[in-house]
Amino acid sequence: MSAQIESKKTTILTFQQKKKRGEPITVLTAYDYATASAVDRVGIDCILVGDSLGMVVLGYPSTLPVTMDDMLHHCRAVARGAQNALLVGDMPFMSYQASPEEALRNAGKFLQSAGMDAVKLEGGRAMADTIAKIVGAGIPVMGHLGLTPQSVNQFGGYHAQGRTASAAKQIVEDARILEQAGCFAIVLEAIPARVAELISKRIAIPTIGIGAGAGCDGQVLVSHDLLGLFDRFKPKFVKRYANLHAEMARAFAEYKADVAARAFPATEHTFSIDDAEFAELLKDLGDSSV
Ligand code: KIV
Repeated sequence: MSAQIESKKTTILTFQQKKKRGEPITVLTAYDYATASAVDRVGIDCILVGDSLGMVVLGYPSTLPVTMDDMLHHCRAVARGAQNALLVGDMPFMSYQASPEEALRNAGKFLQSAGMDAVKLEGGRAMADTIAKIVGAGIPVMGHLGLTPQSVNQFGGYHAQGRTASAAKQIVEDARILEQAGCFAIVLEAIPARVAELISKRIAIPTIGIGAGAGCDGQVLVSHDLLGLFDRFKPKFVKRYANLHAEMARAFAEYKADVAARAFPATEHTFSIDDAEFAELLKDLGDSSV
């Protein structure tokens, strides 16, 4: 008789079970150890190490300059901070588009050397063979449709997608194609809520919405947006749960004022030396100034 070990680790099976039970799946991005530990601690199902890293952490104007090295470095930090969430590493621009073989090799690095459980990549039907190749090697793939930020130049900006019948049909069809290619879930970004709900009903794998309404099987937000840490702009679909940028600035200004006034460090932040030891030191140095 084999004893079954109880594990709290979220897997792609948990995703399927949650969709079946109609229980919303929770996903947040994280890029570092501290954030990953906090996200994991509250029982968020999945942490996405998104290439949004490029904008909210590295300060680039888009996600396009993000490299495999950037992603793997931050994935490792997140993996050290999270024990239970399903960990998904986002494949950066040009790490998977050139060929399915190169995509597979790069996808493998997320699992083999960066502690991830799965990868995410952007795109519809054009990516079907690549997704099938990666999934065929045993690597779970999360798809991403709608406003796919790596195609910002193709879209002419960060605009909602699928707002005409023909554009929406393309996304509905792409979702089915990604499901058939083997994706375990699909992110739907910035598409009309009714279109996202339709897709969620028509495919068996979970949809994870960001700016796609409440009819998706789960939701994802960029943690820096949710925390109000990133203040360059706020997409319409973001709900801010804190204003940490302002809170950081307040704390930094208070520290600056304390140092200027010699109010920091105080005695409780300071190490002491025994009077006798200090007297001996002064004697040794021939110093009579103190
Ligand atoms: O890079 C990212 O954070 C993402 C989410 C917005 C889904 O792709």
